[in-house]
Amino acid sequence: MYNIAIDGPAGAGKSTIAKIVAKELGFIYVDTGAMYRTIALACFRAGIKADESEKVIAKLDDIEVTLGYDNGTQKVYLNGEDVSLEIRREEIGNMTSAIAVYEKVRENMVEMQRELAAKNDVVMDGRDIGTAVLPNADLKIYLTASSRTRAERRCKELVEKGVNCDIDTVEKDIIDRDYRDMHREISPLTQAEDAVLVDSSNMSIDEVVKEIIKLKNER
Ligand code: C5P
Repeated sequence: MYNIAIDGPAGAGKSTIAKIVAKELGFIYVDTGAMYRTIALACFRAGIKADESEKVIAKLDDIEVTLGYDNGTQKVYLNGEDVSLEIRREEIGNMTSAIAVYEKVRENMVEMQRELAAKNDVVMDGRDIGTAVLPNADLKIYLTASSRTRAERRCKELVEKGVNCDIDTVEKDIIDRDYRDMHREISPLTQAEDAVLVDSSNMSIDEVVKEIIKLKNER
């Protein structure tokens, strides 16, 4: 199986890029953030706060996260319910990085991710794919961009959806989320030694996709 790992901070465009690369190569796209978001959503709905570690961990027994594919698009299910849209809410994204610090939360997710990669050619994106989940991935990319660029892109998306956006608040949330992801004890976000750094601040989506396909073809 051919495995491509794409890691990087929030809003760097990982999922947009990974989806297109997977489509062009005929690979499966695995969005691991969606899996962690689903656990955060289940806790949120149950009124559990992210810092209530014992409650979060106890809640795991009631949660079954499954993935499905509809025309190549990944869907994520919480106990059979399609929550693919709901997990995208900003407050869920912020809560997710606070529950993703717990070892118990990560254990099951990592197992599912490794199984998918063992059975399929995948483009998998996340924070710890190249470093912890698939250390032997065939190609590893660390995709980043400045926090301002990432906040601008996020605001543009929100404005297009008719949602008001304060760029400074969005940038602050992004910086806080990166800090939590980079400083946690278990599987923090860091560039794997053998990952190729791609800074997309001044690159179009198309240019990033072409760069990744070129890197794959060179190997
Ligand atoms: O990529 P996305 O914004 O959907 O990820 C949401 C959060 O899930 C991240 O901020 C991070 O805390 C967590 N995550 C993780 N490990 C991954 C993917 C996501 O800890 N492999």
